[in-house]
Amino acid sequence: MRSLLFVPGDSEKKQAKAQDSGADALILDMEDSVALSAKETARAMTAEYVKGAPATGPKLIVRMNALDTPFWEEDLKAIVPARPFAVMVPKTISGACIAKVAGALDRLEQENGLPEGTVKLCNVATETAASLFNMGSYAGASPRLFAMTWGAEDLAADLGARSNKDESGAYTGPYQLARTLCLLGAVAAEAMPIDSICKEFRDEAALRAETRAGLRDGFTGKMAIHPAQVPVINEVYTPSDDDLAHARAIVKAFEEAGDVGVVSLDGVMLDRPHLKQAERILAKAAG
Ligand code: COA
Ligand code: MG
Repeated sequence: MRSLLFVPGDSEKKQAKAQDSGADALILDMEDSVALSAKETARAMTAEYVKGAPATGPKLIVRMNALDTPFWEEDLKAIVPARPFAVMVPKTISGACIAKVAGALDRLEQENGLPEGTVKLCNVATETAASLFNMGSYAGASPRLFAMTWGAEDLAADLGARSNKDESGAYTGPYQLARTLCLLGAVAAEAMPIDSICKEFRDEAALRAETRAGLRDGFTGKMAIHPAQVPVINEVYTPSDDDLAHARAIVKAFEEAGDVGVVSLDGVMLDRPHLKQAERILAKAAG
């Protein structure tokens, strides 16, 4: 899952447009992009959309409202019968939040005659200061948890920060820490680490640089807020012919060397972690 496009849950126009965006997944949002007065409309529209969407289109993830709001239980009641691929839980503080939503999904799947585990879970793991201290707690929280992502906007609001970026446009310390902790927490939980949004949606160069940095560090995909961001993210997260050729050369070098732990290729030392990385790239490309 390379690109995940946010679509406000109360916008019919954007929902229609999103289908053909080329995104691997859509995140139909009932949370922060929806005004308080439109929560019920967004819930009903999102459930309808998920029910009617073609099975061959992008995977559908629904972002519910947070556990400290009066909306979340009704959100799940309305959404589970529509069978989305997953629910995204915002503002989680620890693995206990995931376990709580997983418990609600257990009950709702049973009530709706769906096999247990039909609806997967992902979360936005870094939206409050407290959440950063619990990033190791997602491992084992629920077998439904398939991905974790991070966000810098709500964290900045929680911290009372004036900005989350410095004069050069780079995230400042607290947000870099959040990003890193999310990456580590996700990998430790055997979930896909998904990079946050780039909110400057007209700045393709900034998006490309940020997306490449995510790929470099181990993220496996990135969220988008505008359809124009999708092709850039897909391109960066699709291994190039050069990447694949290099990965094949590494695997071949190990095969030819026989039962050894270390080989050299083009003047570079390669050991087991490099082989593992190369195999991962090839496995991903094979689908
Ligand atoms: N999904 C689907 N379609 C979208 C879209 C999205 N996220 N964002 C924009 N579009 C559509 C617009 O409706 C417009 O359609 P049209 O050509 O039929 O008129 C087209 O793409 C071009 O949009 P543009 O005019 O460039 O942007 P905008 O000013 O309409 O919208 C935003 C800008 C930021 C408000 C919009 O991109 C958006 O709502 N993004 C998602 C926000 C969100 O979900 N935030 C929560 C998570 S952080
Ligand atoms: Mg938010």
